[in-house]
Amino acid sequence: MKGGKEATVYLVGRGEERLAAKVYADLESRSFRNDAGYWAGVYVPDRRVAKALKQRSRVGQAAQQAIWVMREYANLWRLVEAGLPVPRPAIGPAVSECAEAGSVVLMEFVGHGDTPAPRLSDVRLSAAEAEAAYRQSVDLLLRLARLGLVHGDFSTYNLLWHDGRVVLIDVPQLLEVASAARQARELLERDVVSLVTSFRRHRVEGDAEALRREALRSLPRD
Ligand SMILES: Nc1ncnc2c1ncn2[C@@H]1O[C@H](COP(=O)(O)OP(=O)(O)OP(=O)(O)O)[C@@H](O)[C@H]1O
Ligand SMILES: [Mg+2]
Repeated sequence: MKGGKEATVYLVGRGEERLAAKVYADLESRSFRNDAGYWAGVYVPDRRVAKALKQRSRVGQAAQQAIWVMREYANLWRLVEAGLPVPRPAIGPAVSECAEAGSVVLMEFVGHGDTPAPRLSDVRLSAAEAEAAYRQSVDLLLRLARLGLVHGDFSTYNLLWHDGRVVLIDVPQLLEVASAARQARELLERDVVSLVTSFRRHRVEGDAEALRREALRSLPRD
């Protein structure tokens, strides 16, 4: 399957069942994720780990990797339970079970047989399909916003196209607005721009400014 910037996703069999196994890569190549925005609001209880993370030492990187895996499980479960179209995790939802998963996120394989569903960035769509895909994607972004959540990497690169439905993936960096209001708003604005820009290749001209306003309005008020 596709090798991304930070993780490789493998197709694995569990009996008859097909699962996707997302293995986080060696962290050398992933330091770009140290982007402060992604870490805002993440509470690291162990002071030594917090320090190691800051200094990006080897221990810090291993800790960071484990945190990404745990966060991806937790976020996937949260979204599944909210009824959003994401791959269902194959482990959990108990945190203790997810903690045993090591550096692998095991989840539902989105595809047919052994063929993964394409990303919206890679697929050719008719005008009607492109409209439908864009509408579903906007709906997803706004449903997240209403839950007080921002994806943080929302574009056609992280949206699969499966049987006419959009499936959202790649959620370890999902951010709760409540935990980091300013960063989350900035990330949400960035997501809106990424989404609209990445749909241009499908000749869909979304109104970024209108969507930005609607998305910010959709966030829960406290
Ligand atoms: N559950 C799944 N079923 C089928 N294919 C998947 C699944 N999860 C991921 N993929 C494929 O694997 C690719 C990489 O997955 P993902 O986007 O989660 O990681 P990544 O791209 O390495 O992360 P990032 O984009 O942040 O660098 C996806 O683009 C998609 O093609
Ligand atoms: Mg990705």
